Amino acid sequence: MSDEYDYRVRSPGRVNLIGEHTDYTGGYVLPMATDLHTQLEATPDEDVTIHTTALEEQRTFSTTDREREDSWIDYVKGCYTVLEDAGYQPGGFRGELSGDLPIGSGLSSSASLELAVLAFLNDAYELGLSRERLAELGQRVENNFVGVSCGIMDQFAVALGEKKHALYLDTGTLEYEAVPFSDDVQVVVFHTGVERELVDSAYNQRRETVEAAMNALDVGSSVELEADDFDGLEPRQRQRLGYIARENDRVERAVHVLERGDVEAFGDLLVKAHYDIAENYEASCPELDYVVETAVKQGAYGARLTGAGWGGAAIALVDASAAESFTQSLREAYEQRYPEHDPATHLITPSGGVSVTDL
Ligand code: GLA
Repeated sequence: MSDEYDYRVRSPGRVNLIGEHTDYTGGYVLPMATDLHTQLEATPDEDVTIHTTALEEQRTFSTTDREREDSWIDYVKGCYTVLEDAGYQPGGFRGELSGDLPIGSGLSSSASLELAVLAFLNDAYELGLSRERLAELGQRVENNFVGVSCGIMDQFAVALGEKKHALYLDTGTLEYEAVPFSDDVQVVVFHTGVERELVDSAYNQRRETVEAAMNALDVGSSVELEADDFDGLEPRQRQRLGYIARENDRVERAVHVLERGDVEAFGDLLVKAHYDIAENYEASCPELDYVVETAVKQGAYGARLTGAGWGGAAIALVDASAAESFTQSLREAYEQRYPEHDPATHLITPSGGVSVTDL
């Protein structure tokens, strides 16, 4: 019952249009915040007691408890740890988590939960933190508490997304710009139902390779890379970093063509990005390749894997008027080809970032 609570937080998910695996190299990304969201209704209290509707679970912990539990509650506990490290000690709360953002569907439900908690604590305890700072703290929850070495894209999109826009972000400087996204086209998210155990280790391995290569070249951000600068790198480093350099370039071009309203050219860039990440970053899998290929055959402007890869989700860009029937036939084709998987699809409307309402 919402009238028991003092605050309601609406925290979106995110979907990345283009700029994959660039956010831990200081590169460019172009995500959007989703209308699918996490809702947190809460009231300040001494300890933290939180119930989730989706998992039908209730957890309680003291705000000084720093123990990791390898469960969703770590995303909440981690907020207290990173806030304390940054010099803030907010009190606890009693709250209810709900909303329509599916967990584990490639839409960054973890970043959404972190930002819901951080934005609530920021308002309820008057911490005075900016949205940018909340995004950085959310990333620290992952890096320092949960133990995932992700970049800042997900948290930034959740914190600063804008309705009807994508967010063009330079992850090196955190400068960003909202890019209008036309209502006439629809982003379809297709989750393959493939969860890869190896995602974390493959992700960390890629990260180590490109960080070592950038150190060897003495560049602080991948946007400074010149393709003919790669002398002296090992072939594997050259291959991975080559992808990153081209991906940064594609993000810049994607922004230009979107601003011109050229959906065809935007779609072509998505497809090029997919084949480059599949071949040179080796972050795809047969199911994702199948979705991309089939989506294009069935009339999408473009499609590509989105998020970390090695399973998870792909996006396809289609005319808004054809989105429902396109999604259905893509799903039918996929279910016939991979009857062992359980896919999920979502039509995404670009939305605003995390917001807090006093009830
Ligand atoms: C995951 C991470 C992001 C980003 C993407 C790849 O979603 O959380 O920070 O690195 O992978 O682009």
